[in-house]
Amino acid sequence: MKIIRSIAEMQQIALSAKRDSQSIGFVPTMGYLHEGHQQLLRAGREENHILVMSIFVNPLQFGPNEDFDRYPRDEEHDFEVAKQEQVDYVFIPSVEEMYPTPMSLTLTMQKRVDVLCGRSREGHFDGVVTVLTKLFHIVLPERAYFGLKDAQQFAVVDALVQDFNFPIELRPISTVRETSGLAKSSRNVYLSSEEKEEAQYIYKALQQGQALIQNGQKTKSLIINEVIQFIKTHTRGKIDYVDLLTYPTLREIEEVNQRVIIAVAVYFEKARLIDNLILEEN
Ligand code: PAJ
Repeated sequence: MKIIRSIAEMQQIALSAKRDSQSIGFVPTMGYLHEGHQQLLRAGREENHILVMSIFVNPLQFGPNEDFDRYPRDEEHDFEVAKQEQVDYVFIPSVEEMYPTPMSLTLTMQKRVDVLCGRSREGHFDGVVTVLTKLFHIVLPERAYFGLKDAQQFAVVDALVQDFNFPIELRPISTVRETSGLAKSSRNVYLSSEEKEEAQYIYKALQQGQALIQNGQKTKSLIINEVIQFIKTHTRGKIDYVDLLTYPTLREIEEVNQRVIIAVAVYFEKARLIDNLILEEN
């Protein structure tokens, strides 16, 4: 496994792999790796000649009052995990390497961001698509792997790849959870042990919503209210949003009559947790 900190070097490796008809699988991350990330790496390892993982905590996607400075970091642990998952190249540039001067040009999402995290984290997804555009040009992947835990991110990256014709196949990977049901997240380290106990009810609340739909309930407001009440009863977290939308287009609906997502975000003392369930049309 090779650790690469320079853009030029990473791009040379990618170009030479292309010339040799070697397929590149790419897993972009912000590090502090857990089993969610590992699932992406395993999928990438299986179907590509070369597996590249990036670790970059991207300042562009953090708001002024968000956790950029205290985002958890642990390079040594991450390199160990990467080795274990047979990553070929870890691309880990510094902020100065990625953004030597302020960007002259950035991207702005026009759709899929007026709801959910896009609404509560203004500019966040513009930062995500901007850094991914850079990373895609540096790593030149044939396939890129993203977790559905961040379902809106997947929808946004799907729009990026379609609208700008990146020759990249996106691979969605199911959410990896603790046995309690809590979605694995680098931010779970911010939770106190009591909060961690309570946080498992976020997924249980989503399952309540899912059960209603499976039993024939179609009215969005009723489903959402059930999810909200469940979270309020079982946790002291503050609800940022609970919503039910079409997926991946993220449009408002009153009645469930197609593929939908139920998504939630809840603030605990030091962490904002998100989770969702995507429900196929019955
Ligand atoms: P990060 O939060 O490190 O996540 C990297 C990838 O791991 C994302 O595709 C995310 O959806 C996936 N992931 C995280 N937790 C998961 C879980 N429990 N199950 C399955 N997949 C999970 O998302 C980012 O970084 C950044 O926004 C990035 C795409 C790297 C751009 O900066």
